[in-house]
Amino acid sequence: MKIEGKEFRTIWFDNYVVKIIDQTKLPHQFIVKELKTVKDAINAIKTMEVRGAPLIGATAAYGLVLSIIEKSDLSYLKKSSEDLIASRPTAINLKWAVDRMMRKLSGVNDKEILKLAIEESKAIVEEDVGFCKSIGLNGLKLIKEISDNKKDTVNILTHCNAGWLATIDWGTATSPIYHAHQQGIKVHVWVDETRPRNQGANLTSYELNEEGIPNTVITDNAGGILMQRGQVDMCIVGTDRTLSNGDVCNKIGTYLKALSAKDNKVPFYVALPSSTIDWSTKDHKLIPIEERNSEELSHVEGMDENNEIKKVRIYPQKSKSLNLAFDVTPAKLVTGLITEKGICEASEKGLKDLFK
Ligand code: MRU
Repeated sequence: MKIEGKEFRTIWFDNYVVKIIDQTKLPHQFIVKELKTVKDAINAIKTMEVRGAPLIGATAAYGLVLSIIEKSDLSYLKKSSEDLIASRPTAINLKWAVDRMMRKLSGVNDKEILKLAIEESKAIVEEDVGFCKSIGLNGLKLIKEISDNKKDTVNILTHCNAGWLATIDWGTATSPIYHAHQQGIKVHVWVDETRPRNQGANLTSYELNEEGIPNTVITDNAGGILMQRGQVDMCIVGTDRTLSNGDVCNKIGTYLKALSAKDNKVPFYVALPSSTIDWSTKDHKLIPIEERNSEELSHVEGMDENNEIKKVRIYPQKSKSLNLAFDVTPAKLVTGLITEKGICEASEKGLKDLFK
């Protein structure tokens, strides 16, 4: 998608170096950063210079390429794969991408391994772009239906950033919105700020602005009243891990939006590529929920009137905090799953019928 009118992807491989857009600096600064070692890739995932389930999967795949460039040594590659998987625990795409790479590279000789690793990581990236595009075309039908009935702007609420910045291109939750906009359907997006890291305000609003899509940032708690007032036609969010029973793990606060949507009869959709489905975990209590640094809560960062980035404390030093990064929305609150293969019910049967 576009930044200042120029097409970008979130990650690319260029002359044996991996390039990323440093998302910790957005929306105030646009900085392309180079990753040269597997440690750089792990650090980029941990510090959230790259974030979003599909993008951290792609970064991990390229991280293994960097590991092979550093040392053509199997035990180093194995250690790199373990460290990459451990860098963020909740999004399943990370493990999915690393496992896929390691399967492809197992038993491959020293001469072939780098070439194969580059090919497979590029395949993961291209596949994600294709999946996100198909999610968009499938979700477009839902937006078009509302638009045809309403004959007015469709108001869509989204949480966190499940936009192109969280993937390679298009995004998951935003892809139907981009497709609708490109077809001339009038859309407006309610963007949940998404405390504590503000991925909604910093990233979703930014990328929608760059594509010329009307959007309004709201506090995380505003969705309820907007739904009561009939100002939300549908919700679309992303997911970091979807269980085979249709339960959806996503950015903290998603569950409360789904409850409110149910109470107000607002359709609540989750958009996902199949790489986000965890077929083996049966109980949502077994999903490792990432607990992040309390400084993300106690401090906020922004640009002051002199265009300087400043970080300030917003509550007493003595106060304790708990920073859970994700929650789980039970399948019964989800109207449907928008995938690359089509839209299905959030249930074991729905998913199995689509992904036989
Ligand atoms: O902590 P983040 O910013 O990595 O969380 C991102 C999300 O929760 C997204 O909604 C999810 O990864 C889906 S991305 C298409």
